[in-house]
Amino acid sequence: MAGLLTATVVVGAAPILVFLWPAPARGQKKTTLKVSLATPITQLANGDAIKFDAPTSPNSAFVMADGGGDNAPGDLAFGGFVVKDLQGNTNVFAINCSHLGCSIALNPDAKTFDCPCHGSRFHLDGTVLHGPAADPLSHLTWKQGNDATTINVDGLILGF
Ligand code: FES
Repeated sequence: MAGLLTATVVVGAAPILVFLWPAPARGQKKTTLKVSLATPITQLANGDAIKFDAPTSPNSAFVMADGGGDNAPGDLAFGGFVVKDLQGNTNVFAINCSHLGCSIALNPDAKTFDCPCHGSRFHLDGTVLHGPAADPLSHLTWKQGNDATTINVDGLILGF
């Protein structure tokens, strides 16, 4: 009888205890994410860009370094572009449009980044060419890796 009473109390109290002491939230760990590029960065011509995605194993995201509008320093991005602008400067940008965060795409003919959602366009140096976006693209903080197809980008491992 005592055993049955104890079991009943434990089963009845468990949901209350879980509510009062929930499991810790899944963590995020700052790290440098190693990204393999489809094209060696040394073969990038002026006006060209290479798209890349955040690693998924483990689940990861890049951390925006700057930006404005819908992008802010510390916001997460799940993709980006290495781009060499028309002056030959190399930059790495988060894939997110600064208007409302849609993914931009390279327009290889116009040499611009275009957003399919509301028509914003950006120069390859990240500045706004055409609204509604009012703010530039966000940079990602990066360094060249050990070879021409690898870059190391500041990011987070999610949910470890
Ligand atoms: S989200 Fe890009 S133009 Fe609106």
